[in-house]
Amino acid sequence: MKLTIIGTGYVGLVTGTCFAEAGHHVICVDKDAGKIKLLQAGGMPIYEPGLKELVDVNVAAGRLSFSNSTQEGVEKSDVIFIAVPTPAQMDGSVDLSFIEAVSREIAGAMTSYKIVVDKSTVPVKTGDKVAETIKRYCKAKVEFDVVSNPEFLREGFAVGDFMRPDRVVVGVRSQRPVAAMKEIYAPYNAPIIVTDINSAELIKHAANSFLALKISYINAISVICEASGANVQEVANGMGMDTRIGRKFLDASLGFGGSCFPKDLSAFIQISDQLGYNFGLLKEVQRINAEQMERFVKKIIETLWVLKNKTIGVLGLAFKQNTDDVRMSPAIDLCLRLQKEGAVLRVHDPRAMEKAKSVLKEVVFVDDMNEVAEGCDALVIATEWPEFKRLDLERVRKALTHPILFDGRNLFDVEEMERLGFIYKSIGR
Ligand code: UDX
Repeated sequence: MKLTIIGTGYVGLVTGTCFAEAGHHVICVDKDAGKIKLLQAGGMPIYEPGLKELVDVNVAAGRLSFSNSTQEGVEKSDVIFIAVPTPAQMDGSVDLSFIEAVSREIAGAMTSYKIVVDKSTVPVKTGDKVAETIKRYCKAKVEFDVVSNPEFLREGFAVGDFMRPDRVVVGVRSQRPVAAMKEIYAPYNAPIIVTDINSAELIKHAANSFLALKISYINAISVICEASGANVQEVANGMGMDTRIGRKFLDASLGFGGSCFPKDLSAFIQISDQLGYNFGLLKEVQRINAEQMERFVKKIIETLWVLKNKTIGVLGLAFKQNTDDVRMSPAIDLCLRLQKEGAVLRVHDPRAMEKAKSVLKEVVFVDDMNEVAEGCDALVIATEWPEFKRLDLERVRKALTHPILFDGRNLFDVEEMERLGFIYKSIGR
C-alpha cells in the first residue's frame, strides 16, 4: 500500500521504516528541513538498534523516501499516519497543537478519499477533534476516515517491537477503513483489535499507566525489602511466575523515566480529572517514583556524608538501555541532584553522551566505562546497559579511592560484589 507518515521522531521513523520493510511504499514527512536532508543523505537523527540498516535497505529498494512536503505525502498516499509529538504542558496536560496543525495541513491537501490514522499518544476523544478539524478545513469536501492506531514500541527495542507486536489496536468510527488497516498490518501476523476510537485512545494511556504502576509497585516493595532484609529480585521472580502477574516490568530501579511514562501518567491523571474522576492511584505511582530517586540520593549522602567536592563516577545517562535518549532520564536527574550537593562528576554512557552534553554541564565525559571510576570516591550505576555487567570490577575497585558502588539498577550479585571487596548498595536487596 501507499503510506505517508507525518513526523520522523522515534515513532514515525520506526513506523515508516518497518512498513517499508513489510513491502509497503512509504513517504516519511517532517517539517524539519535539516532532519529530512540528513535522512536523504543517509544519516540518522536518532540511535535505535537495527534501524539504520533497515532504512538503508528500504531506501535502496525504492520503498522508502523522505520529504518536507505534507502536500506531496497526502497526494501520493491512500493512508496518512500522524506521528508528531504530543508534549506535556506545565500543568501535565497534553499539547495537541502539532496534531491540530497537521490535521489542518492534511485537510488542505486532500483531493480524494483518505484514511487519516493517529499514531501519536493522545487523550481520549482526540480522534473526534481531528475528524472535526479535517472536515472544517478540507476545501475539496472529499470523504475521509479517522482511525486511532496507538503505538506500543519501546525505545531501544523499537524495530523488534514493531515487527512482532503483541497486538495491533485499530479504533474506527465506521467499517470503511478496516480492510485497509488489516492489509497494512497483515505482514506482521499479530492479532488486530478493531474497536471504537475512544477505546483505542484509552488503551494506550491505560496500558502505559499500568506498566508505570507495575514499576512503582515493585519499587515500593523494594523499600519493604530493604527494611526487612528480603531481596526484591527474589520477590519479583516469585510474583512474576504467576502468569496473571508476569515477571516483566518488575525490575526495581531508581525510578522510571523517558518521554512516555512520566508524560502519559500526567496526561491520564489530567484527562481523568476532566472526566470527573480523581485517579489517586496514578498520583501515588508518580509519588513513589519521585520518592525512589530521593531515597537513592539519600542512600548516597548517608554513605558519603558531605558530597561537596567529592568525585562521583556515574555510569549511564540514557533513560534506559539501548538508546541515546536522555529525555526525562532518571540518570540525568540523579547527576543534577548530585551536582546540587556539590559533587564533581565523571560520567559515561555507551550512546547518550552527545545528547547529554546539552543538559549536563561541568562534568567530565569519559569514553571508556572502565576509566570512569578513576580517582572517584564512589561509583553509581544509573542505567541498565547490559555492557555495564561486563565492567572490569577488579580494575574499578582499585581505581576508586573507596570501593563504594551504588547500583540503581541491580546489575550485580550482592554476595559476589562483597566478595570482591566492594561496599555495594543496590535497590531492595
Ligand atoms: C514505554 C512503553 O513500554 C511502550 O509500550 C510505549 O510505546 C512507550 O513507553 P519506553 O519509554 O521506550 O516505552 O521504555 P520502557 O522500556 O517501557 O521503560 C520506561 C522506563 O521504565 C525506563 O526508565 C526503564 O528503565 C524503567 N523500567 C522499566 C524500570 O525501572 N523497571 C522495569 O522493570 C522496566
